[in-house]
Amino acid sequence: MTDSRLAVIVLAAGAGTRMRSRTPKVLHPIAGVPMIGHVLQTARELGAAHVVAVLRHERDAVAAAVAEWAPEAVVADQDEMPGTGRAAEAGLAALPSDFDGDVVVVSGDVPLLDAGTLGELLTVHRATAAAATLLSAVVEDPTGYGRVVRDADGRLVRIVEQKDATDAERAVAEINSGTYVFAAAALREHLPRLAADNAQGERYLTDVVGLLAAAGSAIAAVPVAEPWRVEGVNDRVQLSRQAARLNALIVRRHQLNGVTIVDPATTWIDQNVAIGEDAVIWPNSRLAGATTVDRGASIGPDTTLVDCEVGEDAVVKRADATLALIGPRASVGPFAYLRPGTELGADGKIGTYVETKNAKIGVGSKVPHLSYVGDTTIGEHTNIGAGAITANYDDVAKHPTTIGSHVHSGSHTVFVAPVTVGDGAKTGAGAVVRKDVPPGALAMSIAPQRNIEGWVEKNRAGTDSARAAADAADRPAGTDD
Ligand code: UD1
Ligand code: MG
Repeated sequence: MTDSRLAVIVLAAGAGTRMRSRTPKVLHPIAGVPMIGHVLQTARELGAAHVVAVLRHERDAVAAAVAEWAPEAVVADQDEMPGTGRAAEAGLAALPSDFDGDVVVVSGDVPLLDAGTLGELLTVHRATAAAATLLSAVVEDPTGYGRVVRDADGRLVRIVEQKDATDAERAVAEINSGTYVFAAAALREHLPRLAADNAQGERYLTDVVGLLAAAGSAIAAVPVAEPWRVEGVNDRVQLSRQAARLNALIVRRHQLNGVTIVDPATTWIDQNVAIGEDAVIWPNSRLAGATTVDRGASIGPDTTLVDCEVGEDAVVKRADATLALIGPRASVGPFAYLRPGTELGADGKIGTYVETKNAKIGVGSKVPHLSYVGDTTIGEHTNIGAGAITANYDDVAKHPTTIGSHVHSGSHTVFVAPVTVGDGAKTGAGAVVRKDVPPGALAMSIAPQRNIEGWVEKNRAGTDSARAAADAADRPAGTDD
């Protein structure tokens, strides 16, 4: 449901210098979503008819993220004049000129603010018909935040920034979360009046609160019930803290949905991952991007899945996989590397020290040990012997390998692509398969074994090997040590 009297302005034009990063601050992800994506999703949940993102620093990169996470949002460009007040002014200018509803202002660097908290703020704002209602928070360490200054009667007087505050003001534990609801008319009236006569030489949005208070308008500060929700991310310490908090919420949601998560502290699950009931996630595992895990599957320990689909009751142990499909009851790992385009059929196996890429491995087929399988299609119920390599690259181009159903390859076979092995065929141990193998054929490429009797005694006389060989020759056949 859209609220036609509601607009949200997301402030995201700042440089975010404290991050010391090439990446714009609001594009740093937590739980797989850039911070500004979280904020835009919250705006959508709130049902605002208008969503405006104010940008300047790395404008095009941030605008691309806005288009991805909230195509309905409008981008407003802030000019060179710095400050949250100037940013809000640019945001306001992007709203319809006759909009006279409520304007929620949030920062792009407060990713854990949820629609529930914002909804409550809006409810208070509307019930009191205030000109401005701000979300405050009482915190243990207010360093860095703007402080809420109240008069002797507890009425909100103004907000003072850390850099402009007196020692007495710095001792105030009630901080400005940077989240507000304003009557559009109040913003229109006061934003153009902001001065930049402060320690940072910026036009502060927070000064609108002081101007409204001085004009005798009704304003209120509502302390948030869960202060950690409004913590801003200005540096990497805060980034990891908020990421851990969001992760804890996500882990808990899955646990309550019936997923066993053995060690929440070392399990990282992105926001949009789906996991079925009775799945088990073992320690040190990361489920990222658009990964889905079906019911009963077992993931980990020590596993990373990025944009993967794991079927029912599959087992994936100590694996690293990206853009891979793992079928029901299939088994992966331990120590497997599945690169994009891997599709493992139901009941199939990609085993230990196996790397796959663009490889379709059919139902019940197995690549159990020490292999590289790339640009390959394998049929059903085929077994690839230990140490197989598909040589898909000839220094110029990549070529495909096609292996049929019910094929058994001997250990250490090299498939030199392009090559096709027919259904039911076999390869001998160590075969280098350069030519197509017809169905049912046995491919051998190694010369028959030749034993040169007495070679060690002749060429390595006096060594332990020669002595061992001589001892063996002295023993009657069939005896053992
Ligand atoms: C701001 C508040 C402070 C509050 C804190 C909460 C002001 C003056 N101060 O401080 O009272 O306690 O948030 O987290 O508002 N931005 C622009 N254009 C600019 C400058 C900033 O769009 O010219 C954006 C930033 O990208 C950011 C947000 O506004 O998303 C807040 O800016 P930031 O520099 O982080 O302000 P704080 O110092 O955190
Ligand atoms: Mg900030």
